[in-house]
Amino acid sequence: MTETREPLVIFTPSGKRGHFPIGTPVLTAARQLGVDLDSVCGGRGICSKCQITPGYGEFPKHGVTVEPGALSDWNAVEERYKSKRGMIDGRRLGCQAKVQGDVVIDVPPESQVHKQVVRKAATARAITMDPATRLYYVEVAEPDMHEPSGDLERLGQALTEQWGIGAVYADLDVLRKLQPALRKGEWKVTVALHKGNLDARTRVLDIWPGYYDGGIFGLAIDLGSTTIAAHLCDLRDGRVLASAGVMNPQIRFGEDLMSRVSYVMMNPGGDREMTGAVRTALNGLAQTIATEAGIDPIRIMEAVFVCNPVMHHLLLGIDPVELGQAPFALATSDSMSLDATELGLTSLNANARVYILPLIAGHVGADCAAVALAEEPNLSDDMVLIVDVGTNAELLLGDKHRVLACSSPTGPAFEGAQISSGQRAAPGAIERVEIDPATKEPRFKVIGCDLWSTDPAFTAATAASGITGICGSGIIEAVAEMRMAGIVDPSGLIGSAEQVGTARLVPEGRTHSYVLHDGRAEGGPRILVTQGDIRAIQLAKSALYAGARLLMDELQIDTVDRVVLAGAFGAHISPKHAMVLGMIPDAPLNKVFSAGNAAGTGARIALCNVAARNEVERVVREIHKVETAIEPRFQEHFVAANAIPHATAPFPELAKVVTLPQVSFNTQGGGGGGRRRRG
Ligand code: FES
Repeated sequence: MTETREPLVIFTPSGKRGHFPIGTPVLTAARQLGVDLDSVCGGRGICSKCQITPGYGEFPKHGVTVEPGALSDWNAVEERYKSKRGMIDGRRLGCQAKVQGDVVIDVPPESQVHKQVVRKAATARAITMDPATRLYYVEVAEPDMHEPSGDLERLGQALTEQWGIGAVYADLDVLRKLQPALRKGEWKVTVALHKGNLDARTRVLDIWPGYYDGGIFGLAIDLGSTTIAAHLCDLRDGRVLASAGVMNPQIRFGEDLMSRVSYVMMNPGGDREMTGAVRTALNGLAQTIATEAGIDPIRIMEAVFVCNPVMHHLLLGIDPVELGQAPFALATSDSMSLDATELGLTSLNANARVYILPLIAGHVGADCAAVALAEEPNLSDDMVLIVDVGTNAELLLGDKHRVLACSSPTGPAFEGAQISSGQRAAPGAIERVEIDPATKEPRFKVIGCDLWSTDPAFTAATAASGITGICGSGIIEAVAEMRMAGIVDPSGLIGSAEQVGTARLVPEGRTHSYVLHDGRAEGGPRILVTQGDIRAIQLAKSALYAGARLLMDELQIDTVDRVVLAGAFGAHISPKHAMVLGMIPDAPLNKVFSAGNAAGTGARIALCNVAARNEVERVVREIHKVETAIEPRFQEHFVAANAIPHATAPFPELAKVVTLPQVSFNTQGGGGGGRRRRG
């Protein structure tokens, strides 16, 4: 370094560099260069968010040598922080360490404001932290009799000067806390500020005396017809602290969406009952999830909702009756920003805010919008079909040129409902099934145990949970395996013991049932797959396939390149069994993926990143909606899809891996068929 040249500061991983006068704090240099270095206390040595790692020695790549004295000495503030809270050796506080010579500064991921939240699936996009609610520590001027001004106005002034944030406003609840907090904190306070993409002004959600780092949290909620699933996220770094789910209590008013709309039609005030029920459940869920994470629910500052249109209207307290009949008009399809208290969500912070993703159409909800946000079909090079399997399946088909969406009334069979031994996915539920094609003998696995039922240790391992029933993924595998073993014919008929050659088939009236497990000797249930179960699965899968086929017609394609199974349940479906059933169009099996709860992931993305809210609002406007309910071809596709896997469509990719036996148990003509209902 020459005497005239100011020290060179190089930041990694950004590579941003600049010359700064000796004595410049690293945090100041970072800010001037636009380096992503966090700070909540504004450089006062309190928050430790600004931690950096200086590098010493030769850096040929950058053309610099960093001398041992390139930064000012370790100071008392850093020592105090390290001794009290701990800090990794070699780290410095960026607001305390000052530039003395050329230096290379690494900003570790946890010190970046816009940190990326690592997601489990390798193919999934990372979430960049840029939440609508953030904490700011600020020093406010004391009141002056000669220049009278309100405490809130001086807080706003301090936020402008110290953080570049313009005017803020606060509700009465915060105003009541403002004066005691300022005085207790000796004019130093931490505020939680919120500004969503739909909000014109920045709002103070809460205030604490002095420096507060007790955390602020948000809920990402997938409000489904059958289950409500929530993730509790730390709004500082996006970590999911806890996830929980409860049954949607509206189930007692009707299992599927249309029966809930009918309930409202038949029972004046029924919508208010259902609104009350779901809000009570949401408050309970918030309490449960906060307890699980060990936090106080009043630290929950935000909630983001994704839901189908009927759930959306009932959450908001809007009568959903228009959604029960053509033209399926929504009260609004736009995204919304509101106070949690307007929705009766009283267990969160008193000023918590709610963002609801936009709806796509009368039957295609914000849950589907969230799936689009998480899976980005609009950016895909290949033709992707995304199926969000739930009580009402929602489908997206497209690529970067065009994306279509529809919903399909599968009903709750895929979730284990309307199945004779069906149950929710819980310990003791059969979730995997294999049937030997020669002996027709089954083996299975239950949730909570990794062993197959044929393992000698299985009985002991499942003693606690028992073998209680069969869940959605279990029934899909069971029916597909029965078809592969020649126990069920292409029309869906179960053969008799004589026709198939196994005593596991027992008569049930004029039909037959397959005994998957008989636990009666031990006081457990006999778990059967009945003809009625097969019919329920056929109805559900035909609706799903017909929806996909309708979208393919619209794009004039006969095959898709990739299939993504989304939904909490989609994560557990075996692609091979789904294809044997004909739930999804034929595709190479290695191109069928599970995306887990993509709607929940989309909600998390919108919770953690404000820009993503703008993005989903834009993408939704560009998605073309196809209405299945009024489309005559849907009925045609539905009927053809009743066969297993399909009456007419060839499944060449499936045929490469599975040969389905050509059996027929229909002795009277007829067979398949079925009704469908929107759910
Ligand atoms: Fe808060 Fe450095 S910015 S400790």
